[in-house]
Amino acid sequence: MLGNFSFCNPTKLYFGDESLNFLNTELPKYGENVVLIYGGGSIKKNGIYDAVIKILEENGKNVAEISHVMPNPTVDKLYEGVDIARKHHADFLLAVGGGSVCDYAKAVSVSVNCDEDPWEKYYLRFEEPTCETVPVGCVLTMVGTGSEMNAGAVITNPHTHQKIGHVFADEKIMPKFAVLNPKYTLTLPHYQMVSGVYDIFNHICEQYFSGEDDNTSDYISEGLMRSVIHSSCAANKDPQNYEARSNLMWAATWALNTLVSKGKSTDWMVHMIGQSVGAYTNATHGMTLAAVSLPYYRYILPYGVKKFKRFAMNVWNVDPAGKTDEQVAREGLDAMENWMKELGLVMNLKELGATEDMLEGIADGTIIMQGGYKVLERNEIVEILKESLK
Ligand code: NZQ
Ligand code: ZN
Repeated sequence: MLGNFSFCNPTKLYFGDESLNFLNTELPKYGENVVLIYGGGSIKKNGIYDAVIKILEENGKNVAEISHVMPNPTVDKLYEGVDIARKHHADFLLAVGGGSVCDYAKAVSVSVNCDEDPWEKYYLRFEEPTCETVPVGCVLTMVGTGSEMNAGAVITNPHTHQKIGHVFADEKIMPKFAVLNPKYTLTLPHYQMVSGVYDIFNHICEQYFSGEDDNTSDYISEGLMRSVIHSSCAANKDPQNYEARSNLMWAATWALNTLVSKGKSTDWMVHMIGQSVGAYTNATHGMTLAAVSLPYYRYILPYGVKKFKRFAMNVWNVDPAGKTDEQVAREGLDAMENWMKELGLVMNLKELGATEDMLEGIADGTIIMQGGYKVLERNEIVEILKESLK
């Protein structure tokens, strides 16, 4: 590993089908005014809401609620939540849901005591909080984003067609704790389950496809990717397979809790393009990534053949005998394509509601990152988008 870095991840994890009980350990550490944050109602149907409320009551908490946090939470919803948290004098924010709810809680956390407009400060100017933040805890119900153990918070501004992620530098923005009960993910619709699977896989790819040095992060990444492939196939055949779902949950957390980015310049272009697609279509995050991935990776492959060959051999067991490096590398992406199709991922932007006339705007909204094997030009993004529409 040739890079210089620091590593600190202060989020405490409670994992397993008994893990919700540990709210009893955590809640007493914070003040009595709690804001419970959740989505459109899945937690009311599957009983998680009742279980959480019971524990909050037993701990004597004074609870206000922010409900109906939508997938791809919007800036208007953020303003509404900040208002509720201020009026409640929130001491603690408890997010119960997927990445959208966890991200949203972090965005509220940095905005409650902020005098400036949070969209402008955190998402347009990418500043760090200069005010007191409110601690966040998380009960995860959807697997994929890694938001339960990172400092990322993605917010969409539908008025300007911008979907922007801010990964805060200060680890105090990371959740203080996260409850990871794989059983909670068993009620996810198949579409959400596989979308989350691809999100995990792509998070690892985004960090793996960068750099040339011999780096421990790459070996960890290959192990995580193999685990995700294995468990996703098992979960796809039998969505009630607890063992497979628990492995996916654990892999998702480690895929994006900063560990495998250590010593890496990291790519993140699939996410940048996918996010801009999301700003135009409001499509499910993991599916936006699935739709643009193969055109992107096939395009940059010549610039990173060595790594794509390693990916083919170490992740997809491609036999290199008698083949050129580029052939081996391309076979790896073919194997990835077969796996994606087996899961039933969306492989085309059309299915997500994107149309030809949106492509220029999507390209304009794509933030160009510098850390991958090829720094893209705007016109190359348009070409990749056109390929993703075919
Ligand atoms: O709203 P409810 O009714 O709860 O339904 C949700 C939602 O419709 C449903 N769901 C969640 N848990 C469920 C369930 N349905 C049944 N049973 C359960 N146990 O699933 C739907 C999707 O939820 P959402 O939270 O939107 O999904 P996800 O976890 O994929 O989060 C997506 C958001 O996270 C951002 C994305 O951009 C997007 O805004 N990301 C955050 C990242 C981070 N913090 O580092 C990184 C990611 O790359 C990503 O960008
Ligand atoms: Zn993602």
